[in-house]
Amino acid sequence: MVYFPQIMKIGIIGSGDVAKVLASGFLKHGHSVTMGTREPSKLEDWAAQNEGRIGSFADAAAFADLVVLAVKGAVAADALRLATGANLAGKPVIDATNPIAELPPVNGVLRFFTSLDESLMERLQREFPETRFVKAFNSVGNRRMVNPQFEGGKPTMFICGNDESARKIVGEILDQFGWETADMGKAEAARAIEPLCMLWCIPGFLRNEWSHAFKLLK
Ligand SMILES: NC(=O)c1ccc[n+]([C@@H]2O[C@H](COP(=O)([O-])OP(=O)(O)OC[C@H]3O[C@@H](n4cnc5c(N)ncnc54)[C@H](OP(=O)(O)O)[C@@H]3O)[C@@H](O)[C@H]2O)c1
Repeated sequence: MVYFPQIMKIGIIGSGDVAKVLASGFLKHGHSVTMGTREPSKLEDWAAQNEGRIGSFADAAAFADLVVLAVKGAVAADALRLATGANLAGKPVIDATNPIAELPPVNGVLRFFTSLDESLMERLQREFPETRFVKAFNSVGNRRMVNPQFEGGKPTMFICGNDESARKIVGEILDQFGWETADMGKAEAARAIEPLCMLWCIPGFLRNEWSHAFKLLK
């Protein structure tokens, strides 16, 4: 079992804003990064300013001690199939995706293609049973993902996943990235954590406010 070493090999599946921001964050904290995409030209600008390598989804997954999944929710399973189950087996995967449907928001409320009885991460966990998924980074905008500064102190990241050791590794990373972690237990908690994305986006759609984060007070 791999516990959190000082320096990890991070494989990022994705080339969008979340993938780039998290990749730069991991590099800033001294980890090594391979970004995975079907279209390497999309990452030319990022590669010109960052030390990370660029490869396919499978290259990124094969390279990694820890994988980050940061693609459109509707194609998350497709991307993991391209990464291949063999390259993902046994590995912790930070699942930053949200199951956003191809439908417009209603009064600022996004629509999902999942239900409250089945989250996207549970679907992925079922298809890739040997992979240790941990939901994280889905309930904040990419600009506040890495060491965000808030007057109210450290924000809270809600996480869940079936494997306790994988959740611990992700908790260590969140600590490094300036977050406190609220561990919500097994994968079913993603039914509650994925919709936090809806809640987070409402002030954005209604009032163009996109710079907040959640905090759990005790
Ligand atoms: N944007 C945010 O601030 C934010 C915050 C929290 C969570 N999220 C979630 O994080 C995820 C990534 O968001 P994003 O805005 O960075 O990027 P995005 O535009 O949602 O996704 C871009 C990625 O999706 C992949 N993709 C698109 N169609 C595909 C297909 N048919 N097969 C395989 N891969 C495909 C692309 O792969 P290629 O590289 O090969 O083109 C690209 O890497 C989403 O699930 C989103 O809901 C976003």
